[in-house]
This record gives sequence, structure tokens and C-alpha cells, in this order.
Amino acid sequence: MPSLKLLEAWRQTLALSRLAPGETAVILAGPIADPANLAAAKLAAGEAGARTLAIELGEAPTIRLAGESTAHYGPTALTGNRAAIEAMKSADMVIDLMGIDRGSEQREILEAGTRILLVKEPPEVLMRLVPTPEQKRRVAAAAARLGRARSMTVRSGSGTDLTVALGEYPCLVQYGFADEPGRWDHWPSAFVATWPNEGTANGTVVLDRGDAILPFKEYVRSPVALTIRDGYIRAIEGEFDALYLGDYMAQFRDSEGYAVSHLGWGLEPRAHWTALGLYDKRQSNAMEARSFAGNFMFSTGPNAEGGGNRRTPCHLDIPMRGCSLWLDGEPVLDAGELVAGEEGA
Ligand SMILES: [Fe+2]
Repeated sequence: MPSLKLLEAWRQTLALSRLAPGETAVILAGPIADPANLAAAKLAAGEAGARTLAIELGEAPTIRLAGESTAHYGPTALTGNRAAIEAMKSADMVIDLMGIDRGSEQREILEAGTRILLVKEPPEVLMRLVPTPEQKRRVAAAAARLGRARSMTVRSGSGTDLTVALGEYPCLVQYGFADEPGRWDHWPSAFVATWPNEGTANGTVVLDRGDAILPFKEYVRSPVALTIRDGYIRAIEGEFDALYLGDYMAQFRDSEGYAVSHLGWGLEPRAHWTALGLYDKRQSNAMEARSFAGNFMFSTGPNAEGGGNRRTPCHLDIPMRGCSLWLDGEPVLDAGELVAGEEGA
């Protein structure tokens, strides 16, 4: 049985996701779904009056390094499983405890009007970071701002100076619940991002001590300088962290893995950059690191989720501290802090 606090967290999140009597909810579980979350999801969906259907899938067709679904974009056990895909397309909501491949069958399910809520964090993280309507308001305001922008510039005291053109791709808007038909979200989340126009990312990104590289789930201990030209990382320089990062990316033998991917910032004041250091790696999905207020999230690899054609399995999310960010010359972050008015104005 899940704890009462966990059950209450699920109740609140499914209520925000507008799970209603008479709706059908598919609860999708893979081999590593947390048993307490699986039990709480079934109970809370049932309490909401929904018809529930649990689908448990087996192993993914490819063996993933360290079992990381967020590190390796590619086929899952759902890929090609038409019976399961059709069940989800005919449902109102999918509670995804497994991790559907974002760029392929997920899009088909969303286009059928089904809403999807991904939940991979352990119960304790979920209980601390239950989403709120206020959070949606702040994230939506930031997304509206980002959606209007045609350029983003990011600088930092450690030497980052990156400029990209925007407008080709939509915004990635995550506030932790899926409340509209065809909407995907991830509990817990509070950030916005978008993908740069093809080939327009230019400059230098210097990862500094304390920035987190995901999926490594490690903090950078020595600066890493990334030289970026025409949308791709062209050089990775530094000491141990640069060596490790460079070698990891090279393993994929895919030049598209060096592309600049989604760029944005975190908006969750309850999330802390230090939390990542307190969990075992397999225990957490690091959504807290992606969401803490004022982080600039740099990322690399695919853009299929945003509607682009880049489908590389190599994907890194890198929440950075201490960055200043401007949209069309207007400040949004100042040295890692949300500029006044950007907390949700
Ligand atoms: Fe990402």
C-alpha cells in the first residue's frame, strides 16, 4: 500500500490533470516502475471515477546503458506494439510509469487526443513537488514570452556566450500535469524550452563547477568549454569532465548527437540544485535538477520531439547555474536568478 501522503499527492496531480468520472486511464508500467507509484496511481485514478487499465510491458528491444530511458532516445517495449498503442489512443489519459519514446509513437498517441503524464521519480520527490495551478500560470507566462522571442543570448561569468535564433520550433512547456487533450507533461516539472532554428547556435558554452550533466547525474567539478558553430558542438575542452563528456558522446558514433537541442530555463522555487547529490543514481530521474528556479538548461542531440527530423539516441540535459539570459535583448535571468517580473509576470 502506498503511504497516505503519496496517495494524496497522486489525487491532487490527477485532479489537476482533470481526470474525471467516466474517463478511461491507462496506467503504463515497464520493468522498473516504482511499486508504490503503481499502486497509488491505480487507487487515485479509481477514486477519481475513471475506468482504469494497467498495461505492463516487458523489456525494450535495445539494451540501454545503465537502463536510462532519458539518456538514450530510441525504441521502447511499446514501439510496434499496436495493441497497446491503440488502447492508449482510445483512452482519455495515459499515466506513463515506463517512459514512451518521445519522438515516435508518443506523438501518434497525443494526436489522438489522449493526454499523457510521465512519472518516473521516486515517491518522496513526488510528495515534495506536487504541482499547483500557480505553477502552471507561471510556466505558461514564461512560455508565452519564449514563444514570441526570435533570439536568445546566454552569458556567464565562467565564459559562456551563446546566441541562437528562435521561431522555427514550438515551446516545450512543462508544469507537471496533463490537463488538455493531446498534452504531454512530466511530474514534477517547471520549465520552458524551445529548439534553436537549424544551424543558428553559435558561441561558447562553458560548463562550470556545480552544473549538472544528465544522464550522468553528476556535478561538473572542472570547467568544460564547448565551442559551438552553426548549430553543433565542434570542440570539447577541459580536464577530466571534458574528457569524460567527450568520450561518452563519441560512443554513439553519431554526428547528430553534437547538435544543440532544447534551450530554456527552470521556474520551480521548491526544487534545489543540491538535491541531485542526495540520491543514488538509479533512484532519481533528476527532474528537480532540470526544474530549479533560475537554471539555464542547455541540451544536446535530438529535436524530433519539437517536430524536427533529428533522431539521434544521444541526448544530454545540462542545467547550468549562474547564467544570464536575454530574449530579443530583454533580460530573463540575471546570474542564475529570475529577473524581477519573470517569476510569472
Ligand atoms: Fe531533454
